[in-house]
Amino acid sequence: MISEKFKIEVISQTIDFVKRTSFSEKNPGHGWWHVNRVYNMAKFIGAKENADIFVIKLSALLHDIDDWKFNETESAKAEKWLKNVKLGVITTEKVLDTIKQVSFKGAGENTVPNTIEAKVVQDADRLDAIGAIGIARAFAYGGFKNRSIYEPEVKPHFHATFNEYKNIKSHTINHFYEKLLLLKNLMNTQTAKKIANDRHKFLQKFLSEFYKEWDFSITDSED
Ligand code: ADP
Ligand code: NI
Repeated sequence: MISEKFKIEVISQTIDFVKRTSFSEKNPGHGWWHVNRVYNMAKFIGAKENADIFVIKLSALLHDIDDWKFNETESAKAEKWLKNVKLGVITTEKVLDTIKQVSFKGAGENTVPNTIEAKVVQDADRLDAIGAIGIARAFAYGGFKNRSIYEPEVKPHFHATFNEYKNIKSHTINHFYEKLLLLKNLMNTQTAKKIANDRHKFLQKFLSEFYKEWDFSITDSED
């Protein structure tokens, strides 16, 4: 049994560690504040499920520390950290397993997590990709990758494999069709589904306003 006091201490140390190891310079939507939002959302969803909240907290905090887009090995830093705080084999394995199950790897390679903790953290992570913040993150990512916001002639592409998803170069509006609008139907928990419904509607509203303004400026310039 891990004592409550030890748990609080480990969470606080892990927060400091994640802040220190912040990776926002590599992707503006991916730094400490993203982790912070996922952590809070995962706690909120987790409280409504019969789940191990300590594992959820640690997994949310460490879920992007070894991001597959930026690192060769999948869980090297998280593993090192968990060994460093001496959590014991069972919790360490549970957290590492949760983190590995969380990443979205393209529409063709979707797998449903097999534990409630991974389901909760995956939902929290995915919720941060939709709604107003999701939109901000998508355009921040596009800018970071030097992509244009929209090119009407370049249509969305549904990736069959993880490599295709990782390597494709597209404009950011396509990302809505290739990932963001799909997330609502991929939520694992009822709590996340409800939140996702509202955020999904906001994505649709944003897109219709975007096209309206786009068409207006095209018509305008032809006159
Ligand atoms: P996370 O690991 O937090 O789930 P990702 O690493 O897949 O998310 O992406 C980080 C953020 O960048 C998300 O908000 C995601 O929607 C956005 N993003 C990822 N790929 C693209 C892309 N090709 N175009 C625009 N935004 C993207
Ligand atoms: Ni994330």
